[in-house]
Amino acid sequence: MLDTPRAFVVGHPIAHSRSPLLHGFWLKSLGLPGCYEKIDVAPDALDGFIAGLRAAGFVGGNVTVPHKTAVMAQVQRLDEAARAIGAVNTLWFEDGRLCGGNTDAFGFLANLDAGAPGWDAAGGLALVLGAGGASRAVVHGLTERGMTVAIVNRTRTAADALAHRFGATVRAADWADLTDLLVGADLLVNTTSLGMAGQPPLTVDLTPLKAAAVVTDIVYVPLETDLLRAARARGHRVVDGLGMLLHQAVPGFERWFGVRPVVTGELRAAIEANVRAGAA
Ligand code: ATR
Repeated sequence: MLDTPRAFVVGHPIAHSRSPLLHGFWLKSLGLPGCYEKIDVAPDALDGFIAGLRAAGFVGGNVTVPHKTAVMAQVQRLDEAARAIGAVNTLWFEDGRLCGGNTDAFGFLANLDAGAPGWDAAGGLALVLGAGGASRAVVHGLTERGMTVAIVNRTRTAADALAHRFGATVRAADWADLTDLLVGADLLVNTTSLGMAGQPPLTVDLTPLKAAAVVTDIVYVPLETDLLRAARARGHRVVDGLGMLLHQAVPGFERWFGVRPVVTGELRAAIEANVRAGAA
């Protein structure tokens, strides 16, 4: 009998992760053998956990906070996105080697492609709020699509460092410049934790934004943030953050279980119900 492929998501804490629900949905609906489990590993135990993956029978898994950067040291091959972003969220084995990739930029772009088709057709300026880990993936994705990027962040030095990492098409700016930047923006992205349940609200006056600009938020609890509600009320095309979670999971699932899954309305409804139930 063939072994059942086992995959995981590792983080600390990990109880809140919706990845098991997501991958479990695909395994079940595709009728594939396999399992996907969440594993809590503290930072000082990460090296041992990664070193033991093969012996434990894992085919790979996801890596989340706070291990996305630390795990890079133990990966034998990094994909281009992981190198550019400086973080790994997906692990798999290839030719006996542990490989690390980053599918967050892919997930961000695929979500925009699905929710606002043609959003990047004319290129233009993307205004990115925030300069943390999520922002690195978003900025990488946007530069890959040929967008010019402006980053505005509470801590200016973090925006400067991120802009420097990506070169000439990415620049940092001050919150004080926000109004001017909104006038020129074709896409507005919130990557800060503002607007998330339990966090302070994100208050941005969208009046200067041109009508054709698309607005997206990587926050998905709540599903419709104040930013998205305000943008929708003004007639902008808006894309919520849940789709990024769904789409970033596609490449990992395919690597571990051999079938490329599809992000369907049914999948979205299942995860949405879980978010609305306020589970974790
Ligand atoms: P993630 O991995 O989700 O990006 P992170 O790396 O902790 O999380 O980044 C959080 C982002 O939200 C940062 O851009 C942070 O700004 P700072 O660099 O100034 O910390 C931003 N953020 C969090 N709380 C904020 C607040 N109260 N006001 C403004 N920005 C905030």
